[in-house]
Parts: sequence; C-alpha cells; structure tokens
Amino acid sequence: MEVSGKRVLIEELREAGYDIPSLCYAPDAKHQPSCMVCMVRNEANNQMIPSCATYPTEGMRIDADSDEVKALRQMGIELLLSDHRARCGTCEGKDKCKLRNLSLQMKAKWTRFCPLAPVEDKVQIQVNEHMYFEPAKCIRCGLCVYNSQDGFTFKGRGFNMQVVLPEPSKSHVDEQLANLCPTGALFLR
Ligand code: SF4
Ligand code: SF4
Ligand code: FES
Repeated sequence: MEVSGKRVLIEELREAGYDIPSLCYAPDAKHQPSCMVCMVRNEANNQMIPSCATYPTEGMRIDADSDEVKALRQMGIELLLSDHRARCGTCEGKDKCKLRNLSLQMKAKWTRFCPLAPVEDKVQIQVNEHMYFEPAKCIRCGLCVYNSQDGFTFKGRGFNMQVVLPEPSKSHVDEQLANLCPTGALFLR
C-alpha cells in the first residue's frame, strides 16, 4: 500500500486495517525498537523496517502482510522465546501477556533457536509497596526503563542485558508502568 501521514507507520497501518503486532512499542510511550515483531517491508527499496520507529516518506510502498514479513515477525517472537525461562501454564500474568498471545497467534516455536531451558526458581522481587518484578519473564523491551520516573535502568548488553530496579525508597506504585509491560514481568499485587 502507498502510505501518507505524519504519524509513525504502525499507527497509519493499523488505522488502515492492518493487524500489526508490537511488543516493545506502545502508543504515546517512549520506546526503542528491539523486538522485530512489527516489521514491514518497504517495496520501494526492498528493505525490512520497524514500523514502530519509521515515519512515512514520499514514495514509500509498504508490504504489511506478506508471508515473508510474517516469517520475520515470527522469528522475532521465537528469538525472545528462546531466552524466556518461564512457562505459561503456571504464569500469573498469562491473561494479559502479549508475548504469549502473539506466540499462539503466530504458531511460534519455543525451541526453534535452542532447547527448552530448565524452569528456574520463581524469583519475584518487590519493587515497592504493590509492584513486583519477575526477571525470568522480562523480554528487555525497555518500556519500563524509558517510561519510569523512578530510575529503572538497563545494565549489560544483548542476552546479558538486565533491568535494574530503583531503590524501594525511590519507587512509587505506577499502574501505568505495569500496564505497559508486555509480559507478566512487572505486575501489581
Ligand atoms: S510472561 Fe507470558 S510468555 Fe512468559 S510465561 Fe508468562 S504468560 Fe507465558
Ligand atoms: S519488565 Fe516488562 S516492561 Fe520492563 S523491560 Fe521487562 S518486559 Fe519490558
Ligand atoms: S514493536 Fe517495533 S520493534 Fe518492537
């Protein structure tokens, strides 16, 4: 399709009726593209681009739903699952989990890139009075880091990157932040 408009591509495509998935993007929130789940192809130069971080430009022609595009999105999900040590059956956050819903919808394989990792102890860290963090369910999307007022940060790189929590005394209960988390990693209780 030909695109025009001033909003980021993912919003233009969604308004045009395309079902473009996302994990590290949320409307009106700060983000950095990392998950590859929203990829589309610009047919004008045959490049795959993240629709959550690209603005329409003149001459752009977007392939938003070919098998090739869908295969790349599925690979993005499967890469995340390959380093995801939790299990959905016993997960408290499964009803709101976008990662679970998309992996089911895309028929993504948990073991495409490595054997299923052993289930680790369920470590839950209390962030503040009502907010908890479960590291094994974090996909390092960054939404909490880029949108927290309280000093969530990242340390490390690649698969070793981890969310560092603010000191409890400097953290407040932020329902919006918990809602931004695309998995059950950050939740209120
Ligand atoms: S966070 Fe989502 S994908 Fe991970 S175990 Fe829970 S429901 Fe499944
Ligand atoms: S805790 Fe949630 S919002 Fe924060 S980086 Fe992990 S998955 Fe993303
Ligand atoms: S939603 Fe676009 S890269 Fe994650």
